[in-house]
Amino acid sequence: MINVALPKGRLGEKVYALLSSVGYDCKNYNQNSRKLIFRDNQNGVGYFWVKPSDVAAYVMLGAADIGVVGKDVLEEMQPDVYELLDLNVGKCKMCVAAKNGFSDDTTKPLRVATKFTNCAKKYYQSIGRETEIIKLNGSIELAPILGISDVIVDIVETGTTLKENDLKVYETVFNVSTRLVANKAAYKFKKQEILTLVEKLKGVIKYD
Ligand code: PRP
Repeated sequence: MINVALPKGRLGEKVYALLSSVGYDCKNYNQNSRKLIFRDNQNGVGYFWVKPSDVAAYVMLGAADIGVVGKDVLEEMQPDVYELLDLNVGKCKMCVAAKNGFSDDTTKPLRVATKFTNCAKKYYQSIGRETEIIKLNGSIELAPILGISDVIVDIVETGTTLKENDLKVYETVFNVSTRLVANKAAYKFKKQEILTLVEKLKGVIKYD
């Protein structure tokens, strides 16, 4: 049995379709159900559904052999897992955004609101800019609008959220896409099953 941790929600939909197209039919099992674990005994695969930001933890701790997780989460958590494959879905960018007309007052620390505190710290250290990091858990765009931060470091996909809130991108920190990751011990002991899936996925992933 190979156990796969999958992200719930927006990112999940694209991933389920990809896995289903190579015979890992997770999509059907999750329909109209609140069940979080499903075992496909016939094909020897167990699936479970977790918050996208928790997938890496389940894989690192060995509850899942493999998982599907965004590069944003990997950069933020730096989990001790193998990154096996870029699935080339869930593409977006980690960006610095602020109100239209923003100009940086370098005489003061820059107030940065973000869910991705490690990414933000690393980025601003790399450019030598002093910051005050404000950790938020969602709707980050509100922070500069309500004046509690100067900028945000956040994921931008379509840009709609920024646009509708009179914010704009000032810098791209890094590109994000979804990755297949493996637990290090599982990669040793279930190498054949894992590599079979990797090879099948390689056959259907569309690269630009
Ligand atoms: C993410 C991100 C932005 C939005 C960007 O939020 O934090 O708010 O998506 O997408 P867009 O560029 O297509 O508008 P998410 O939906 O994950 O919710 P959150 O507010 O809980 O972070």
